[in-house]
Formats: sequence, structure tokens, C-alpha cells
Amino acid sequence: MQGLSPWFAMIKSIKGILIYTAIVLIASAVYFGYAYTVYPTLPERETFLSEIGEGLGEAGLWALLFIYARTLLKLVMGKGPLAKRLLPDYSAPVAASLFQQLLSFLDRTHVYVGIATVAIILLHIAMMGIPMQILFFPAVLALVIWQGVFGLFLTWRYTPKELKKFSYLVHAQFLTGIMIGIFAYFGHLLIDN
Ligand code: HEM
Repeated sequence: MQGLSPWFAMIKSIKGILIYTAIVLIASAVYFGYAYTVYPTLPERETFLSEIGEGLGEAGLWALLFIYARTLLKLVMGKGPLAKRLLPDYSAPVAASLFQQLLSFLDRTHVYVGIATVAIILLHIAMMGIPMQILFFPAVLALVIWQGVFGLFLTWRYTPKELKKFSYLVHAQFLTGIMIGIFAYFGHLLIDN
């Protein structure tokens, strides 16, 4: 039993996020079932713009993975309030300084990567002519803009203190990312075949 306890503690500490993910997943699957019966599957368009748009969608996905890899790295390295609870017996790994360097690179570039990500995803949506009556898409659009706006508030020098605190709370977490990932996945299932 002794060997199991760190895992148990870890699962317990991320229980909230697992339950949240399960709820978003189930709600999305239910809506997917509804949308699948109501909206006809759209034929894939092969225009010049949509070909570029497709490439941008792929780039956007990689950019998001890059951004959230930083968040994961922070957790694994014991930074941030969640980390201690996620990894109860955490001690710095031998290669910590290498990770530290990588992390500080990711920290320094996040604002630029973040702005590029928002721009890439907005262009992708504009170029593909995405059907906004399928609610997954306006939701992803709103969430990406949400991340961008609060990211800007976090960075802007003249943001009032209270707004900065709020911006950190709603910007620097996984919850939005989980929604973006799940909604975009189900949305693409509805238009991809
Ligand atoms: C889709 C776009 C974006 C996503 C998914 C995203 C995600 C995140 C996440 C998860 C964090 C928590 C810190 C961490 O990863 O450990 C964070 C922090 C932060 N983000 Fe973003 N972000 C985006 C765009 C932006 C933009 C456009 C800006 C600024 C113009 C920005 C500025 C910041 C700042 C200042 C922090 C806090 C400081 C830090 O931890 O380094 N982000 N972001």
C-alpha cells in the first residue's frame, strides 16, 4: 500500500480537474449527438484559402500544445500552488537547471507565442468559413479571445491591481484550455468527414 500512496494523493489532488473534464466531456458529447442529427455534415471545401486555413489550424494546435507544455513543466518542477499538491514527495530532479533554463525561455516567449496563437486561431476560423450555428465554434472563438484579452491585461503596465489579480485567476489555468481542446475536437468531428 505504501507505494501506492503518492499516486493516490496525486489523483486525489487533481480530482477537481478530472471531474470538471468529465463534465465538459459529457456535456459536449450530448450536444454533439444533438448537432449531428440536426446539422448536415458539410462537404470539405478545397479552395486556396481553406488550404492555407487548414495549415493554420494545425499550427494553432501545436502552439496551444506548446503553451500548455509550459504549464505542465511548471507543475512538474514544483512551481505554482498546485504543484505541491500534485506531487506530494517532490524533490528537485538532477537536471533541474536544464529544465529551469527551458522554463525561463518559455516564460520569456509566452507573451509572443500567446499573441501569435490567438492570431493564428482567429485567421484559421476566418479562412475556413466555420459554421457558427454549431455552438462549439463560437465557444472556442470566445475562449481564445478571452485568453488573449486577459493575457493583455496581465501584461499591460496600467492595468488596475484588482483587474490584474482577476486576470491572473482566469487566464493562468488549465480550465479554459480543457474547454478549448474538447470543443474544438468535437466541432471538427462534425465537419471533417
Ligand atoms: C490562446 C492563447 C493563450 C493561452 C492558451 C495562454 C495560457 C496561459 C497559461 C496556461 C498561463 C499560466 C502560466 C503557465 O503556463 O504556467 C499563462 C500565463 C500568462 N500569460 Fe498567457 N496564454 C495565452 C495568451 C496570452 C497573451 C496573448 C498574453 C499577453 C499578451 C499572455 C500573457 C500571459 C502572462 C503575463 C502570464 C502570467 C505570467 C507567467 O506565468 O509567466 N498570454 N498563459
